[in-house]
Amino acid sequence: MKILGFESTCDETAVAVVEDGRRVLSDAIASQADMHALYGGVVPEIASRRHVEAIAALTEKALQDAGCSRSDIDAVAAAYAPGLIGAVLVGLSFAKSVAWALGIPLIPVHHIRGHIAANYLAFPDLEPPFLALAISGGNTLLVDVADYTNMHILGATRDDAAGECFDKAARVLGLSYPGGKPMDELAQQSAGGVYRLPHAHVDGAPLDMSFSGLKTAVVNLAHHAEQTGERLDRAALARDFTQAVSDTLVPRTMEAVRLTGRKILVAAGGVAANSIIRANLEQACREQGCKLYLPPLRLCGDNGSMIAAQGYYEYRAGHAAGMELNAYATREISE
Ligand code: KG4
Repeated sequence: MKILGFESTCDETAVAVVEDGRRVLSDAIASQADMHALYGGVVPEIASRRHVEAIAALTEKALQDAGCSRSDIDAVAAAYAPGLIGAVLVGLSFAKSVAWALGIPLIPVHHIRGHIAANYLAFPDLEPPFLALAISGGNTLLVDVADYTNMHILGATRDDAAGECFDKAARVLGLSYPGGKPMDELAQQSAGGVYRLPHAHVDGAPLDMSFSGLKTAVVNLAHHAEQTGERLDRAALARDFTQAVSDTLVPRTMEAVRLTGRKILVAAGGVAANSIIRANLEQACREQGCKLYLPPLRLCGDNGSMIAAQGYYEYRAGHAAGMELNAYATREISE
């Protein structure tokens, strides 16, 4: 079954063709990051307009790259939530029009379910049940994936997402948007151990997380240095910051593994590309005897193939939608 997948929840317009949820036939992406870098972050109105400009040509490219004509496509999958509402609406509306014009099913896909499904494309042997750590620009979740479409949240951030925190910290360190990758590169230049940063715990919710205090601490350190003329060891701060994010994510993830008794851990989302977090997860899983799947870097960020992959399993579970399907800025992964 060939599925045409659409992703437009943030600043990536992406269209892909995937066969039977596992085989990528094409994966076309138009990134808007350069444009948003001028403003230091995503400007929602610009994101929506850019999606409108890119999506039709990108769909043609995805079909062409896959060697498919329109009649070869069996269903359309679209990320319908969560994300920037105007941006999500563009991809979803276009996907609806394609499904309607071709007379084929429309499948709604939760964006974070898509991130998790990116792993099915890289690892043919991977099957639920497993535990997933989903860490992206807008979401930070610990998810129990009981089967392909049955998931529930074990822990989540109470405020900022891990990626959002990376982007803000990077910005005050003078790095370009999106800040995760340059922070990663800067952090590798230092062993750290210079800055003491807060590690928040949520009372009564040991698997929940909080990143806003950490973000504020980095902002305050940078502003203080600017005002007093004190030299900031940027590489050490990047390292200590990344370690603090990892100290929040990794022990909670391993505690969730222990509590659920799951034997497999899957990482997903843009922040799963971070070299220090990857190394720390590898070590923790080795020590705890848990099998770890880390997606290749190209599948960590937003893409269309992850939406088409999850779309296959949603379709098999009978989750097709009608033309009344709406876009949502927020939506639980379990809904
Ligand atoms: O999954 P993604 O592409 O988009 C969302 O669904 O949100 O994630 C984007 C986030 C950005 O915040 C970006 O800075 C972060 O992933 N990111 C990283 C790295 N590469 C991307 N964060 C830390 N280390 C990285 N190497």
